Amino acid sequence: MIGLIGLGWYMVDLSYYDRWYNDSLSLHKAFGMVLLLTALFKIAWTLLNTRPEFSSVMASWEKFLAHSTHGLLLLLLVLIPISGYIISTSAGDSISVFNWFDIPALFSVTEEWRDIAIELHYFLAYGALLIIVFHVVAALKHQFINRDGTIRKMFW
Ligand code: HEM
Ligand code: HEM
Repeated sequence: MIGLIGLGWYMVDLSYYDRWYNDSLSLHKAFGMVLLLTALFKIAWTLLNTRPEFSSVMASWEKFLAHSTHGLLLLLLVLIPISGYIISTSAGDSISVFNWFDIPALFSVTEEWRDIAIELHYFLAYGALLIIVFHVVAALKHQFINRDGTIRKMFW
């Protein structure tokens, strides 16, 4: 997700004559679609399994804040790629995932809706960056100030 925000920010300023003009967008689209599939899997996993308990030092408002942030991040992991998909398939083109398989355009949209999708993609992606920064600072605070082993929960 962080990589895709960086790549998106870099690629929109390239001109047609840059060597990376086409490849950066293809990579962005392919990794973005893989991220969407991974996010759908993760959401199904979260719904079907129990998640690790929050640290016992956390107040109930902190647990609520952490829960809301996680929920928002999961929502963004779906909404950002879907808006990207709408932009890229608006003219009926399919999306090639690393020349490995194609994801077809399921519907076509008007130019007006394409422009709305571009705006949404922009605001949701840079908004996500702010939430990610908050999320990471919170994780580091728990790890190094509260010392409650929170980061270990990313791995097992
Ligand atoms: C979570 C996944 C994704 C993130 C975080 C992300 C992030 C970004 C960012 C930050 C930009 C630059 C916006 C700007 O500065 O104007 C961008 C542009 C773009 N992204 Fe994504 N993206 C994701 C997934 C996708 C997917 C799956 C597709 C298409 C299949 C896609 C297609 C595009 C396109 C076409 C642009 C250029 C839009 C324009 O013309 O301004 N993105 N993306
Ligand atoms: C270096 C970057 C990151 C660090 C250090 C980090 C750290 C953590 C930690 C420690 C947890 C467990 C919190 C707990 O259970 O108390 C967590 C959960 C979570 N993180 Fe991150 N995170 C990072 C980046 C991201 C990004 C980029 C996203 C998504 C856009 C994300 C989405 C989530 C979600 C959805 C959960 C909740 C998982 C669940 O319990 O089902 N994280 N993160």
